Amino acid sequence: MVRRDANRPASSRRLGASVLAVFVVSAGAAGSAGCDKKGHAPPDPSEAPGVANGGSGASASPAPAASTALPAFDPAQLNLFAPIPEAVEKPVVDETIKLGRMLFFDARLSRGHDVSCASCHDLGRAGQDGEPTAKGAKQARSKRNTATVLNAGGSFAQGWDARAASVEDFVGPHLLDPAIMGPGAEAHLAEVVLSIPAYAAAFKKAFPDDKPAVSSETIARAIGGYTTKLFARSRWDRYLGGETAALDAAELRGFAMFVEAGCTSCHQGKYLGGTQTQKLGIAKAWPPPAGTDLGRFEVTKQDVDRGMWKVPTLRNVTRTGPWLHDGSISSIEEVTRLMARHQVGRELGDPQVAAIVAWLRTLEGDAPTELTTKPALPPSGPKTPRAE
Ligand code: HEC
Ligand code: HEC
Repeated sequence: MVRRDANRPASSRRLGASVLAVFVVSAGAAGSAGCDKKGHAPPDPSEAPGVANGGSGASASPAPAASTALPAFDPAQLNLFAPIPEAVEKPVVDETIKLGRMLFFDARLSRGHDVSCASCHDLGRAGQDGEPTAKGAKQARSKRNTATVLNAGGSFAQGWDARAASVEDFVGPHLLDPAIMGPGAEAHLAEVVLSIPAYAAAFKKAFPDDKPAVSSETIARAIGGYTTKLFARSRWDRYLGGETAALDAAELRGFAMFVEAGCTSCHQGKYLGGTQTQKLGIAKAWPPPAGTDLGRFEVTKQDVDRGMWKVPTLRNVTRTGPWLHDGSISSIEEVTRLMARHQVGRELGDPQVAAIVAWLRTLEGDAPTELTTKPALPPSGPKTPRAE
């Protein structure tokens, strides 16, 4: 029986605007939520005057000069963060997880038998594909960038537009999407799985109470159960766990810069994101995007949700370019600079951007190989449909 992952925060059902100022700060931090950008940073005499003015005032021309000063690291800045527990490195790989893992790698679930979850969510490259927007079954193109599945189970909602409260809820419609795997009707998907004898037997064992055992719902639960186990610890977690040598002084200054720049009003907690939705261009209008993707508005049809996106995790972000929901930015330095300009109304100098990026690299990590190694897939049966 696949259960929802216990690691997911209790806030997982609070979607939309109501979550803006609500997030759970672990590790007993005195969490000052919302838009208080200066509260956590120690006063720093080395900072150039006139650059820390967040908010819309900073967008007036002429643009404020970029500073190159780096703030000092202060351990109090760590209070808004928490490590992913070590236990994720020793996952229990039971029969249900093994089943979910096989399905994750099985291209027979797609319309042309040409893509599996793993084609786009390549676990050898941080759980995504490196494409601006995803290439789906039969060369279809999604309008969105492939979000990483690594650590997705820790996020309050799934999708760039936060449209599903859990991975299990997200996966069914996602898989059926013609721009993703597009196997046609739900019934057809179940038929394919049922036609592979080893799967039919494994589903009966994994879902004894479900009649029928193989349905689009149990398929989503099996794959979702596996996907939510894909947590990836990094040097940052070892540092937070007390291994102080895991980060060097330059990386810690980069972290201090990230806090001081005000990034933490959106990117905090265990996953440096994944706790709320926010408007892109909240401090200064985002340059008009080429596309017409309205983000969360497409889910809720409420005007307040135009241009609202899930604040994504920053774990592995240095490996998941090109960036943003549409893959429109192809340099990590550039996306960092634009975030500062448009999300906090602040110009960062090159050394400041470089310092933040150096710290972001400490968030790189992979899920345990016993989960990510491609398994042998069971042979097709006589009734397994051929590729379209
Ligand atoms: C064609 C490429 C492609 C395939 C195949 C694919 N995905 Fe995705 N995945 C995407 C894209 C694109 C997004 C972002 C979608 C959006 O936000 O609208 C995404 C988002 C996700 C997310 C949400 C992550 C987050 O943080 O919001 C999960 C979970 C996920 N996919 C799991 C899966 C699973 C499981 C499969 C196999 C059943 C799968 N995907 C197959 C491209 C793909
Ligand atoms: C007001 C909220 C907010 C603040 C403050 C903020 N961000 Fe973001 N960040 C977002 C949102 C929302 C997105 C996703 C936007 C999209 O995909 O269109 C994002 C995306 C990103 C990405 C790209 C992630 C990806 O997977 O493509 C990076 C990198 C990033 N932010 C870094 C930063 C840094 C560094 C700062 C501080 C200078 C910062 N952010 C401040 C809300 C914020």
